[in-house]
Amino acid sequence: MPRGVEIKVAADLTDEFYSSMFKVSRDELGKARSQYLAYQKRFSERVASPRTSFFNPIFDLGLGMSEFVFLCILIKKPLTVIETGVAAGVSTNAALTALQINGAGRLLSLDITPKVGELVDDKLKNRWKLEILPELARENSFSKYLKENREATIFLHDSDHSGAWQIKEFGNVIRHLPGIELILFDDISQDLIDFISSNHKDYRITVIDENRKYSAIILKV
Ligand SMILES: C[S@@+](CC[C@H](N)C(=O)[O-])C[C@H]1O[C@@H](n2cnc3c(N)ncnc32)[C@H](O)[C@@H]1O
Repeated sequence: MPRGVEIKVAADLTDEFYSSMFKVSRDELGKARSQYLAYQKRFSERVASPRTSFFNPIFDLGLGMSEFVFLCILIKKPLTVIETGVAAGVSTNAALTALQINGAGRLLSLDITPKVGELVDDKLKNRWKLEILPELARENSFSKYLKENREATIFLHDSDHSGAWQIKEFGNVIRHLPGIELILFDDISQDLIDFISSNHKDYRITVIDENRKYSAIILKV
């Protein structure tokens, strides 16, 4: 269990929690949560059949973070969202659906292999761009990509969960995305928590217990 942070379990993810996070009325939040429930129902029916890609459901974005991503896109209406780590495409499909409901915005996804996105609905792909990071000089390519897309306001990490790579992603995000409003990490490592707690005391980390892993919402205070 992560140390030195506030941890929320599923029962804590109430309307009150989301309203305080997003500073929206209960009505607006209620509407967004119903849209998420409807989406999640349709999506679980669609993905019930066995997968053909090599990405096992164990890699999928956690349910707590899935709802958070969906709600924050509906409520904040970002024009550019960046995510790292597509795999089968659970996070990608959720983010693209919320952008589609908004009728605006695009998702830029970064991965290290093009063999990703099996679960991404073809009808949503007009708002999607997938970029493959090369094996050599991967961090340089990542940081160059952020500089070229500095207008992004929401960032989701779900790629290499090692502490070293998470710290690199976080450092590049705060350095190169001046308008970043929400930094989200699936499977947050204790190394990143310790790094932020020691070096970036102006960021608050809220961790969601996803049952088998921990995801995190990182906000500048
Ligand atoms: C945990 S899975 C992503 C799950 C996905 N977000 C979902 O909800 O279905 C990890 C993904 O990160 C990719 N990956 C691994 N290292 C990476 C890196 N350094 N940068 C970008 N993607 C990476 C893998 O190829 C894989 O597709």
